[in-house]
Amino acid sequence: MSSQSLGSLSGRPVTITGLGAYLPSRVITNDDLSQTLDTSDEWIRQRTGIRERRIADPGLASSDLGVMAARSALADAGLAPEEVGLVVTATISPDQLMPATAARVAYQCGCLAAGAYDVSAGCSGFVFALAMASSAVAAGLEDHVLVVGAETISRILDWEDRSTAVLFGDGAGAAVVSAVEATRQGGPSGGDAGGSGRILGFDLGGDGSGADYLQIPAGGSRLPASCATVQARQHYMQMNGHEVYRFATRVVAESAARVLARCGRRTEDIDLFVPHQANLRIIEGAVKKLGIPEERVFTNVDRYGNTSCASIPLCLTEARAEGRLRPGDLVLLMGFGAGLSWGACLLEWGEGGV
Ligand SMILES: CC(C)(COP(=O)(O)OP(=O)(O)OC[C@H]1O[C@@H](n2cnc3c(N)ncnc32)[C@H](O)[C@@H]1OP(=O)(O)O)[C@@H](O)C(=O)NCCC(=O)NCCS
Repeated sequence: MSSQSLGSLSGRPVTITGLGAYLPSRVITNDDLSQTLDTSDEWIRQRTGIRERRIADPGLASSDLGVMAARSALADAGLAPEEVGLVVTATISPDQLMPATAARVAYQCGCLAAGAYDVSAGCSGFVFALAMASSAVAAGLEDHVLVVGAETISRILDWEDRSTAVLFGDGAGAAVVSAVEATRQGGPSGGDAGGSGRILGFDLGGDGSGADYLQIPAGGSRLPASCATVQARQHYMQMNGHEVYRFATRVVAESAARVLARCGRRTEDIDLFVPHQANLRIIEGAVKKLGIPEERVFTNVDRYGNTSCASIPLCLTEARAEGRLRPGDLVLLMGFGAGLSWGACLLEWGEGGV
C-alpha cells in the first residue's frame, strides 16, 4: 500500500490534455414539449431550471455523437488517434447491449490499436470512467486514454411520460487523460507541458438498494424483450423522482467532503464546482449544503437539460471556452445517478488548458 490516503491518486502524475464536445443542432423548447405533453414552460423551469434541450436526428446513435466529441478532444490534445491505448465510453443509452459503444467510437476515431469498453454507472458514468482511465495511466498501463460521455437519451425516453420526458437531452463530451510525463507542447491547447494540471483523487460510491428508482425495466436478462414488454412500455426509462431527488441532494455534499479530505483540501479552496446537470434545484440545494459561492458553480442545464454521462465534459469544455478555468484552479467534478451511484473527482487545472 502507498502511504497516500485511499482515493487520492498515487503513481505517475495524470492530467487531462484535451477536451471536446458535441451537441445536436436541433433545439426542443419547453413550449415545443407542451404541444404533445400535459406540461408547461413554467412548470419545467420552476422545478428543474431547464428551458430547452437538444435532440439528435433520427438514425444517429450515441457512438455517432461520441465520435464528434472525441475527435475534438484528440485535436485539442494534439494527439494522433493511434497514440491512444484505451477508449472508455460512459453511457446510459448505448448503441446496443453488445458490442460496447466504445468499440465503434474507437474505430471511427482511428484509435485502431486501442482497447475499448463501456462504463455503466448511470449519470455518474463519466466520473467513473475518468477514475478508471486515470488509474490505468497512473499505474503505467497506458500513456493516453480517451474518455467519452455520449448520450442519445431521447431514444430511451417515454415521450408519453411527462415526469421524465421533460428532463433529458442528447449530447456528448470527451476528455483525453494522459501521463504528465507523456505530454508535450504543440497541441492547440498546448497540452499540459510545463503545466501544473493534475488529477488529484476520487470518491466513488453506490447504493444498490435504490436500483429500482431509476431504471429501464426490460431488455436485459432480468426481463428479456417480448411483445408484452414492448406493449407495457418497459423499454423506456422509469424514475421515482422524489427518491432520486432526496438521494442526490444528500450525497453530493457527503461525497464532496470525502474527496476533499482525501486530497487534503477544503471547500474554500474550490475555484470551480462542476456538478452533473440533472436539475437546477438539486444543484442549488447541494451548493447550499456545501457552502460554495454561486459564482464558483458552473451550470448549463437550462440549455441542454440532463445529458447524463455527457454533462460534466460538456460543462468543462464550455467553462474553459468562457475563461472560467485558470491555471492552478482547483476543480471539483460531481456525478450522481442510477445505481444509485455517485462519483466525485478533484483536479488541478494546468497551464495549457488542463
Ligand atoms: C422530477 C421532479 C422535477 C418532480 O418535481 P416534484 O416537485 O417532485 O413534483 P411531483 O413529482 O411531486 O409532482 C407534482 C405534480 O406535478 C405533476 N407533474 C409531473 N411532471 C410534470 C410535468 N412535466 N409538467 C407538469 N406537471 C408535472 C405530477 O403529476 C404531480 O401532479 P399531482 O400533484 O396532480 O399528482 C423532481 O422529483 C426531481 O427533480 N427529481 C430528480 C430527477 C432527476 O434529476 N433525475 C435524474 C438524476 S441523474
